[in-house]
Amino acid sequence: MYKRSDFPDGFTFGASTAAYQIEGHSFGGAGRTHWDDFAETPGNVIRAENGAVACDHYHHWQEDLDLIRDAGFDAYRFSASWARVLPEGRGTVNPEGLDFYDRLVDGMLERGIKPMATLYHWELPSALADLGGWRNPDIAKWFADYCEILMDRIGERIWKTATINELWCVSFLSHFLGHHAPGVRDIRAAARAMHHVMLAHGTATQALRAKGVNQIGAVCNFTYSQPASRSPEDIEAAATFDDYYNNFFMSGFFKKEYPERIVSALADHFPSGWQDDFDVIGTPVDWLGVNYYTREIIKATDGPWPGHTSIEGPLPKTQMGWEIYPEGLLHFLRRCHVDYTGDLPLYVTENGMANPDIVVDGTVDDVVRIDYLARHFDAAKQAIAEGVPLNGYFVWSLMDNFEWAFGYEKRFGLVHVDFETLQRTPKASYMALKAALAS
Ligand code: FCB
Repeated sequence: MYKRSDFPDGFTFGASTAAYQIEGHSFGGAGRTHWDDFAETPGNVIRAENGAVACDHYHHWQEDLDLIRDAGFDAYRFSASWARVLPEGRGTVNPEGLDFYDRLVDGMLERGIKPMATLYHWELPSALADLGGWRNPDIAKWFADYCEILMDRIGERIWKTATINELWCVSFLSHFLGHHAPGVRDIRAAARAMHHVMLAHGTATQALRAKGVNQIGAVCNFTYSQPASRSPEDIEAAATFDDYYNNFFMSGFFKKEYPERIVSALADHFPSGWQDDFDVIGTPVDWLGVNYYTREIIKATDGPWPGHTSIEGPLPKTQMGWEIYPEGLLHFLRRCHVDYTGDLPLYVTENGMANPDIVVDGTVDDVVRIDYLARHFDAAKQAIAEGVPLNGYFVWSLMDNFEWAFGYEKRFGLVHVDFETLQRTPKASYMALKAALAS
């Protein structure tokens, strides 16, 4: 079993959540988001569930912060909802929204928890989706303006700030695969969203720096790309997946260019003048967040770009059907450090697993999650031993929540939430982490 003392002094342990997944978006004057629209459209979200109530963290936040403190976590990675701060995305501010984040940050500081804020974790205001959302180049400015308004209120008390969570999900998953809001399946929309999300990150980073906000980072998600066979076709397909999933964003940030394979596939669809945006996109950051869950087995197929499919792998799987593959975490920590970030501090900003947890006699016996975390902690320790400047690790997630297109069915929490009564029950994994963090 792992112990805090196995990690370097000052290593930060935390838990992660996101606004729309926990807060309850029907409370406190928040505006409508494209997730509300997406969820209301049949077939997009299991049982058409949405984030209207979620964990009702909007009213239970003190209890939730107590859980973070009592586990012994040093930091809490939360996100703010754009539509809670600016219900129409621009213009009139919702004072209750700013007050909420103000109270929340103070609540963390009172409990000795370091606040790590994410400024966009996917709930785009519907009014901006109406204007094309991530397809519209103006989104870079809209986003930067919102970031300034929020950080004017809470910025001085924030420990570290991330601009946009998982740029691949915001762009490719949501505009090419259509799995997330706005549910678009269109190569041109995807290419434009991929570039605009990069530009929005850089524009906001510059705006925040000009205001004196420090410790700004980017958070990317990584999936290990395993060719289905040694055939040249499968190897090339896996390299394509690796490039549009993992390398595109890192290369934009840290090399000020996009991978050649992606440029040749998407150049006709990128917005005009895209080549001129790299100085903004590559605005230096202070740290990088690595979100990691699994690998995919990639097999070449006939047909249009990207010309591959994912096939089922042989390893044990989580409730999501995702293979458990801690080697992938070590791989990406190494790759980020060696190929892209050098001495820049890295944080694992999300890692965890879904499990069909049930409460029996007041407890949840999620031993598989304890094992999952232990194996990923081992990968993190190995990276540190090899000289990767990994400074912290955040578990996804503090508590069960609205898992996007999967609704409330997939449980990622260290704390079980009964979505009828909203009762929180710490799972065995929470207790194990608490013991580990005390040792
Ligand atoms: C990540 C998201 C997070 C959660 C986990 C399981 O991609 O950032 O909100 O859905 O996956």
